[in-house]
Amino acid sequence: MIAPTGKTKRRRVIAGNWKMYKTQADTRAFFSAFLPLVDGVTDCDIVVAPPFTDIPAAVEAAKGTAVAISGQNVYWEKEGAFTGEISAGMLVEAGCRYTLIGHSERRQFFGDTDDTVLKKTKAALAAGLTPIVCVGEKLADYQAGNTEHICQTQFLGSSNSLTPEEFSRILLAYEPVWAIGTGHTATPEIASAVHKFLRSCAAARFSESLAANLRILYGGSVKPDNIKGLMAQEELDGVLVGGASLDPKSFASIVKDWPR
Ligand code: PGA
Repeated sequence: MIAPTGKTKRRRVIAGNWKMYKTQADTRAFFSAFLPLVDGVTDCDIVVAPPFTDIPAAVEAAKGTAVAISGQNVYWEKEGAFTGEISAGMLVEAGCRYTLIGHSERRQFFGDTDDTVLKKTKAALAAGLTPIVCVGEKLADYQAGNTEHICQTQFLGSSNSLTPEEFSRILLAYEPVWAIGTGHTATPEIASAVHKFLRSCAAARFSESLAANLRILYGGSVKPDNIKGLMAQEELDGVLVGGASLDPKSFASIVKDWPR
């Protein structure tokens, strides 16, 4: 496999996934506290993914700032009899620029598969959204040494039939399931090794230059006290933060407090 040099400078991304937390009032309160704290940060992309019902309040609050709003999930059809689903066009209309796709909680509890992740990714791209496609192995797979196999299958299953142009517009998030919400962060070295492996898969499937430009985020118990070590790794192009993104101060310190 080709080993990319990693010398390409990739713009970092700090993304928060609120999961099913916060009301609209909480959303407004979060942004009133958060925005002044990150004012002036221009050297990374900042993304917040609130629940669907909070999106208009988040978009309104973040208007004119560098903070972009993301969906947490999307459906692949444009419209139709799909009770409970939201289309990519609807997310765009609501003001989203990103959407998470295939988060491990969607894969575990709501039936997302590599196939549906691919359909969602294509639909999101067609609507002009930047998909943040999530992959990651469960604890048993990690313990059995199957991390690379699982991640490769999910990654290529989720991106195999993307055109190179489509592929160039996705972000990938490596989120080991055993690290999500558990307080057990992957060490910077573990995360970095998996990112490197995923990048080599991208080089083999697409091209070395597309792989070198692919931004890969790490997620799983990212906190203000471990952000420095994680972001010091050249292979980590950013983070996807769950719990610690709910508090404006802790999320702001994750946005700001790493070696530039
Ligand atoms: P966590 O969640 O930071 O609370 O572990 C990360 C995620 O699920 O994206």
